[in-house]
Amino acid sequence: MPDNLSDLSKSATQEINECSSTTELDSLRVKYLGKKGAITIALKSVSSVEPKDRPAYGKKINELKSLIQGTLSQKRASLQKKEINQSIDDKKIDVSLPGRSNFGGHRHPVTKTLLEIEEIFYGAGFAVEDGPEIEDEYHNFTALNIPSNHPARAMHDTFYFNSEFLLRTHTSPIQIRSMEKEGVPIRVIAPGKVYRRDSDITHTPMFHQIEGLVIDKGINFSHLKGILHQFIDTFFEENTEVRFRPSYFPFTEPSAEVDILSKEKNWLEILGCGMVHPKVLENLGINTEIYSGYAFGMGVERLAMLKYGIKDIRSFYENDFNFLNQF
Ligand code: DAH
Repeated sequence: MPDNLSDLSKSATQEINECSSTTELDSLRVKYLGKKGAITIALKSVSSVEPKDRPAYGKKINELKSLIQGTLSQKRASLQKKEINQSIDDKKIDVSLPGRSNFGGHRHPVTKTLLEIEEIFYGAGFAVEDGPEIEDEYHNFTALNIPSNHPARAMHDTFYFNSEFLLRTHTSPIQIRSMEKEGVPIRVIAPGKVYRRDSDITHTPMFHQIEGLVIDKGINFSHLKGILHQFIDTFFEENTEVRFRPSYFPFTEPSAEVDILSKEKNWLEILGCGMVHPKVLENLGINTEIYSGYAFGMGVERLAMLKYGIKDIRSFYENDFNFLNQF
């Protein structure tokens, strides 16, 4: 083999064998076998060799070409195998590592309490009703026997939009809307947001109430007492001492407020209730000779505060994670 060819053979085999990646190998293939590669150039130089030496010289170059091709493909196979093993090693997953846990959200304590209360009444055969938060004077006051000159309107410090529309101050207007829609008999609860111009340790301008309404033939005060006792025992998960204290609401007669006895032996008011005032039913064209019923209304935040021992109602709306995460 002429010197130049044997040098070429040595350097090519050495470079190919020392090469450490398939990309590098690709450039070596171009370097030796490409259009401008050493072998191609050598083949072109055959014409400059003495005619008698040409066949032998050409043969040598072709042998060298096959040698390089063989070495390249052997090396490629071994590099590819190495690279596959390497990538398997790199991507190895340790299935025994502990997982990264997600930050899980959960229901707000007020929503939780509200759903809990709904569930209890749902179990006692109550359907769930809904009503608008922007109410008119008629449904929020007049239809509930609170006429415009009635001092009871002063009981509600109301957010008015104008003389007709306002943010409802209680869920009681849903009593009226449900009876307008469905007539009687009726057995519903109505949860929702209510609004009053009030803010201190026990009041927020927006809070939640749940209204209850049952109208049917022969409903009397004992039915009301029965359902509320059942509700209170289930909600507070223990036998709770309860007292019905005479009170006044324009839309019920007689009216009562219900207190429960705390662990510290204090009576705590939890809701208002009564027998629906005949005027409310008559306004809706319901025959009070046949139908009677009871109603009740409770504050959801207040019930949650009593159940979980929360002192300040405003903590529900400060979005402090440390507070919310306890529920
Ligand atoms: N609506 C009353 C309030 O917001 C609560 C209430 C009292 C509702 C007596 C009733 C009821 O249905 O019978 O203070």
